[in-house]
Amino acid sequence: MNVLLIGGGGREHALAWAIAASPRLKTLYCAPGNPGIAEFADCIRLDIADHVAVIDFCRLNSVGLVVVGPEVPLVAGLADDLREAGIRCFGPGRAASRLEGSKAFTKDLCAAAGIPTARSATFHQAGEALAYAAAHALPVVIKADGLAAGKGVAIADNREDAAAFIDECFSGKFGSAGASIVIEEFLEGEEASFFVLCDGKDILPLATAQDHKRVGDGDTGPNTGGMGAYSPAPVMTEDLVQRTLDTIIKPTIEELARRGTPYQGVLYAGLMITPEGPKLIEYNVRFGDPEAQVLMMRADRAAVLDTLDRAASGTLSGARLDWSNDVALTVVMAADGYPGTPVKGSQIKGLDAAVSGTEGVMIFHAGTARDAAGRLIASGGRVLNVTAPGRSVAEARARAYAAIGRIDWPEGFCRSDIGWRAIAREDTGG
Ligand code: AMP
Ligand code: GLY
Repeated sequence: MNVLLIGGGGREHALAWAIAASPRLKTLYCAPGNPGIAEFADCIRLDIADHVAVIDFCRLNSVGLVVVGPEVPLVAGLADDLREAGIRCFGPGRAASRLEGSKAFTKDLCAAAGIPTARSATFHQAGEALAYAAAHALPVVIKADGLAAGKGVAIADNREDAAAFIDECFSGKFGSAGASIVIEEFLEGEEASFFVLCDGKDILPLATAQDHKRVGDGDTGPNTGGMGAYSPAPVMTEDLVQRTLDTIIKPTIEELARRGTPYQGVLYAGLMITPEGPKLIEYNVRFGDPEAQVLMMRADRAAVLDTLDRAASGTLSGARLDWSNDVALTVVMAADGYPGTPVKGSQIKGLDAAVSGTEGVMIFHAGTARDAAGRLIASGGRVLNVTAPGRSVAEARARAYAAIGRIDWPEGFCRSDIGWRAIAREDTGG
């Protein structure tokens, strides 16, 4: 089968690595891809926003499955247009993608289906929002309704910050994404991510992971797309996984099917494990980045393409995907300046030595490019994902940082404490 993978980040490099391990794969195309993905795929130029061009490419190249990595093309309805053209696509259509595309939509769905989540209210203008924020306990959580690349959430410890963020949203800082906002209660607990595949009716649970959203050690500094992750998330016991399936995932899938907009693709639940049990923080309609990197390191990669294809074709019933008992951990290396304006164009050296010198390590590329002389350079904010397996989080972490020690890139930085929460647990035997 020929496959077209959409995207060009570390998540897509990990997916390309897995898809390339399938005995069913003939040719893997990737748009736009990156220098790491180019080792497994034919990286092509294609305007993803031009759905007709994507359909034409698929027809011309006998693409049997399109796998969409990022959320933006899904929210824009690429999966619907492909399916209408008779091309199989892994990823939800526009309507079901509102789970990520609109926080107010998800809140309404939670209310309709009785799904545990933070209490909230939705506002379309500043006056009522300000009054609500002023009347509720601090800290208060304020979210732009639409897609804001992870920047549309504020956790305000005082009334002034709350008011300032509400004003920013309604004065257009996030464009139309901030035309409505959700204000919700602050949930206390430990965060975890849970991933399932769905084919519209059947659900295949995948695995759990934990991300590190803040840029600085000790979970300090501004939020990012994620500075590192590991899988599994030790906080997610078997009992909590089952409760999440029963009280959050299944009611969501059933409610969407009932509305005539069935969910097909990977569903990523961002959870808060509270004293009352798991509560939904948010949904994403795609794999996490960098969570996909640790998931793909643990998955039975030869079976990944087949499983995605079964989800896309409504035949997930009875499918299984095996997972290594090992832990996988990834450390993100970012360009100086991230999550503000990253310095671009600096040369990265030593990747081969880093991979060959450390057992089991994979370096997934995100914001990398080749310059005219063919040298590898940084071209984005998050640039490399140094990913390692281990029997424990401590072992995986030691390997990842050993590999990072061999990378020669003075203009890059990383957190030095990825995995700290899980390692503290391992140390105390909990
Ligand atoms: P979101 O984009 O909705 O995932 O929010 C980004 C981050 O803000 C989450 O990963 C949490 O760390 C935090 N957050 C969001 N909502 C809440 C909440 N209700 N209570 C506590 N933390 C939250
Ligand atoms: N790492 C968080 C995300 O992919 O949304």
